[in-house]
Amino acid sequence: MTIDILQKDATSIACDLLVVGRFEGVGSRASGVGADVDKALNGALTQFIEQDGFEGKFGQTFVFPTFGNVKAKRIAVIGLGEKKSWNADAARKIGAHVVKAAERANAAKVATVLHGLGINNVDAYTTAEAMTEGVLLSDYRFHAFHGTKRSEEKKPTRIATFVMCETDSRIGKRAKDGMKMAEVLASATCYARDLVNTPSSHMTPKDLAEEAKKLVAGRSSRREVGMGSLVVKVMDAKEMEKKKMNAALSVGRGSQHEPVAVHLTYAPRGAKKKIAIVGKAVTFDSGGLSLKPADSMMTMKIDMAGAAAVLGLFKAIAELKPNVEVHGVFLAVENMPGGNAYRPGDVVTAKNGMTIEILNTDAEGRVTLADALCYAADLKPDVIIDLATLTGACVVALGEDMAGLFSSNDKLAQKLTNAAHETGEELWQLPLFAPYEEHIKSKIADIKNTGQRGSAGTISAALFLKPFVGDIPWAHLDIAGPSYIERESRPDQPYGATGYGVRLLAKYLERL
Ligand code: BES
Ligand code: ZN
Ligand code: ZN
Repeated sequence: MTIDILQKDATSIACDLLVVGRFEGVGSRASGVGADVDKALNGALTQFIEQDGFEGKFGQTFVFPTFGNVKAKRIAVIGLGEKKSWNADAARKIGAHVVKAAERANAAKVATVLHGLGINNVDAYTTAEAMTEGVLLSDYRFHAFHGTKRSEEKKPTRIATFVMCETDSRIGKRAKDGMKMAEVLASATCYARDLVNTPSSHMTPKDLAEEAKKLVAGRSSRREVGMGSLVVKVMDAKEMEKKKMNAALSVGRGSQHEPVAVHLTYAPRGAKKKIAIVGKAVTFDSGGLSLKPADSMMTMKIDMAGAAAVLGLFKAIAELKPNVEVHGVFLAVENMPGGNAYRPGDVVTAKNGMTIEILNTDAEGRVTLADALCYAADLKPDVIIDLATLTGACVVALGEDMAGLFSSNDKLAQKLTNAAHETGEELWQLPLFAPYEEHIKSKIADIKNTGQRGSAGTISAALFLKPFVGDIPWAHLDIAGPSYIERESRPDQPYGATGYGVRLLAKYLERL
């Protein structure tokens, strides 16, 4: 799909579908482009809307033919909901709803305007950025594994061109900048989705490390990455052993696929801050010897969604070149119950010397993150943020549509919450409630990897991570819920991996 912003009157565009918007509760008389269309159709738009009882409820659409009275073959009216609820995320969802309406109408060429411009101070840049994201994110399909029989499905949609019209050249220029930003962010998000959707057979620890190398290949020098440099360090199991990453290594011992550590660095000259992002990278979580029930295992290819978010972020960073030093760290392992697997009852020693009693090999994420967080802390960044599909308990607490946020630093939590609000990647802060540290006290080691059955499992998992970070301001995002969806909850998220975190982190870095 090509997407563009044109300095033209929307009614002058020859297209299959022209989409105009309508807020709820503003009466049946059209305004803006809707009014122009209505005039050209001798009031038919108003008449149709009244007859249909169209109320302008958010996402509601109504399509009718123009019989050649305007250049568009058909008009769609889309409900923008109540004006007081309008914001960037509404614009994003409207972009997605427009795509859905166009798909239903089999439209190849779609024209629309920048909806809700100026309402509640949503400016041209933000509107175009959000709408473009909505369009591109809803257009995503994962077809890499369809055989030849389903090749006709490889076409994501029938939309070939999508244009947003704006007659004011200054507004159009700002909108174009927003659109370009969204193209980068949507492409990075869809890349992360691809990584997560790829089955574990094709996304082993080594494959994940190869992806990091591919991102860097061809653009590692300062000139190629603007003023910055982009480098990747890949460490095999031997090197990980030298670096004392024995906690992560023990998780990987039951698999035929060796663990591998990845450290991406983006370092622009004169960076004002240094941020480390750590991702959980379990390429398949069978539970290990504490084997998962078959049904719980079915989607466990997604257990590297944290690392996918890190890779997606670096794909965006390579284009956007922010003035921040960013380190991306993940220790890729597969959690399998092979003959050499780590066992319940084992004690393993993490990179910082802390001993961990393993009581459930399915609580492997925190064990791998222990070493990853130690590694990140050794880089002495200003902030550490980790993303991990860490606990089923977080999904029980918050559902599939939001991540759990934990932070030792209120300012950092606020910044991430603000960024999430802007990008529509919902999160909710949960407490690092110190008394629950009791839950992870071990009788024989420094800490144990399970909490108290049925009691705040997502909090005890977060508390487990804390001592490996030390004093550095830190935030932990439990993304077990929103990384993957089987039932559509947002129009911009089709079935499967969501790419949660990529845009959120990019926005956080942009606003630093
Ligand atoms: N990868 C899972 C968590 C998960 C669950 C991610 C559902 C995505 C969707 C994690 O490794 C795990 O198995 N956690 C256990 C911890 C328990 C054994 C203490 C859990 O949540 O049940
Ligand atoms: Zn597990
Ligand atoms: Zn896991």
